[in-house]
Amino acid sequence: MSETAVGYAREQGQRFVSELKDLLRIPSVSTAPEHVGDVRRAAEFVAAGLRSAGMEQVRLIETSTEASQGRPGHQGHPLVYAEWLRAEPLPDGSARPTVLLYGHYDVQPAEPLEEWKSPPFEPTERDGNIYARGAVDDKGQMWMQVKALESLLKADGRLPVNVRVIVEGEEEVGGEGIAAFVREHGEQLKADVALVSDTEMFAPELPTLTVGLRGMIYTELEARGAATDLHSGMYGGAAPNPLVALAQIIAQLKTADGHIAVPGFYDGIEEPTPAELEAWGSLPFDEEEYRRHEVGSTALTGEEGYSVLERTWARPTMDVHGVVGGFTGVGAKTVIPARATAKISFRLVPGMKPEETFARYKRFVAQICPRGIQVKATLIHSGDPIVVSTDNQYVHAATEAMAEVFGKPTVFVRGGGSIPIVGDFVRELETPTVLMGFGLPDDNLHAPNEKFHLANFHRGIESIVRFLDKVGEPAKAGS
Ligand code: BES
Ligand code: MN
Ligand code: MN
Repeated sequence: MSETAVGYAREQGQRFVSELKDLLRIPSVSTAPEHVGDVRRAAEFVAAGLRSAGMEQVRLIETSTEASQGRPGHQGHPLVYAEWLRAEPLPDGSARPTVLLYGHYDVQPAEPLEEWKSPPFEPTERDGNIYARGAVDDKGQMWMQVKALESLLKADGRLPVNVRVIVEGEEEVGGEGIAAFVREHGEQLKADVALVSDTEMFAPELPTLTVGLRGMIYTELEARGAATDLHSGMYGGAAPNPLVALAQIIAQLKTADGHIAVPGFYDGIEEPTPAELEAWGSLPFDEEEYRRHEVGSTALTGEEGYSVLERTWARPTMDVHGVVGGFTGVGAKTVIPARATAKISFRLVPGMKPEETFARYKRFVAQICPRGIQVKATLIHSGDPIVVSTDNQYVHAATEAMAEVFGKPTVFVRGGGSIPIVGDFVRELETPTVLMGFGLPDDNLHAPNEKFHLANFHRGIESIVRFLDKVGEPAKAGS
């Protein structure tokens, strides 16, 4: 065990945090064309960090234009690649395993800005947390990987395993850049195991591995009515209204009790195993506490007969993210808009296929479209649901590493969120994947006042160091 690397990480911890703050100051919002230069600066920052850690072959890999964000002509954000493939062979002469590390350096938009207690791109420490957009999702967690590599390389002069690193800049927009790279150059990411640092712990102090993620389809629905905007007094009563039509369509997608009404939507869904359900039942979860402090609403919604954990981890859902059309300024304007759009996504669970779900949805929407309205459904991005195997030496190495750092046994959970490329690692590259993350349930991912608990940043680095060490000693892993 590389206690020297752990010692190095502890000594250098303050510097690691101050570097992370420099990265957090870069507003690498991948969806925003005006931030395209900032996104690239963040990629270069990560590359420089990997280089000074002692990684080799560090480079930016450009992603193709049309693959990005469904916006033809828009520059795809670069991938960052690094490797260190000089691990000494095992005593029997065979090669040490290769680990693929994955994270993302892009972030969600920070709006609404007025809700932030300190500005989103001015990282600020309060109560042992670092507050900034991207603190936990995912710059802080990706930086843990870089700093774990640095600690091993500087303290020991080598890594205990072969390592490849791939960091993307389009995760938050479902960009296809990395998927295209995996498809075309998969051999460059060839590894025995992938370590993904982009998930959460179930509760503070509770080491957690995520063993499943929901997939998704993200769509835009456009409704058109009259040829041009119309005076609502002159034409109201005769002209179709696309905003009303969208509301009617959306209202028919999901019943009041949370059941999605798209025909065939639930066909083929794989239920969690009885053992999984039993394990979820014994996780420390208080529904009332969750409603009050995490969600902050007067009631929870969703399908009857399923627990909150089942509803958010193992059941598909539909959500509307925004509706645009007509007059949204201050005051009043009496207009029947000619056009309106809605951003609508579905989360998918194992057994569901994004293309099939989209086809069903598109057909249903066409069927229920009100008279006088033309509706068009566009798929903006999609990703497969995944479940990973928990019965392999790599998962054992991860649970042992975390147990050593936290002094407690590791729990297995699923995540309700999506990380599209993980499906490609599992299916395309056939790489067993370990999702070891250190976010907390109240870290405000995608929301104002995103934070990362600094103790978890340091524990994450130490867990990754220990994980790599254990994977490098296959004979001992799991024993
Ligand atoms: N890190 C999250 C996904 C996540 C969050 C997994 C919490 C497990 C627990 C990731 O950055 C994310 O937000 N993904 C997007 C998907 C994307 C295609 C827009 C999501 O889930 O909305
Ligand atoms: Mn993320
Ligand atoms: Mn995210």
